[in-house]
Amino acid sequence: MAETGTEARLRWLEIPIELPESGRSETFELDGIPLLLCNADGRPFVVRDECPHVQTSMQGGTIQGTILECPLHGGQLDLRDGTPVAMPIRRPATCYPVRERSEGAGLEIGLPARAVEGPDRRRPTTGPAVAEGERQGRRHRAFESGPEKAEDAREERK
Ligand code: FES
Repeated sequence: MAETGTEARLRWLEIPIELPESGRSETFELDGIPLLLCNADGRPFVVRDECPHVQTSMQGGTIQGTILECPLHGGQLDLRDGTPVAMPIRRPATCYPVRERSEGAGLEIGLPARAVEGPDRRRPTTGPAVAEGERQGRRHRAFESGPEKAEDAREERK
């Protein structure tokens, strides 16, 4: 059967870890993307392992039904589509489709073709915006590091 729409734009990759026990989650990484494999009452879900609240790992969070509770501040999201359920999470998490492997045991994750083709081109790695960020970073370091370091930073800018 031919794949259509979103399915056709996905690349299915083997998940390199086993499904954890029910109610548990485990981290892994594919193509530089931090991911969290969750077992919600026997059903596997994968979400980007970056809490939408402050971009920290959600490993160790509790899972009840399809709701994952972040271990840091207790925000909750629905693993089915990443919808925020409880504060302080306000933005949706990124979820990825999961299926049984077509050959052999284990699971596969569907990553967008863009995610496996190379680095995210929406973020510049050079250019005026990056140069400005680096200037701001030096200024910030000067405030954080005490008077001697601030003097070093001033010398650096000359
Ligand atoms: S870091 Fe997840 S709720 Fe705050």
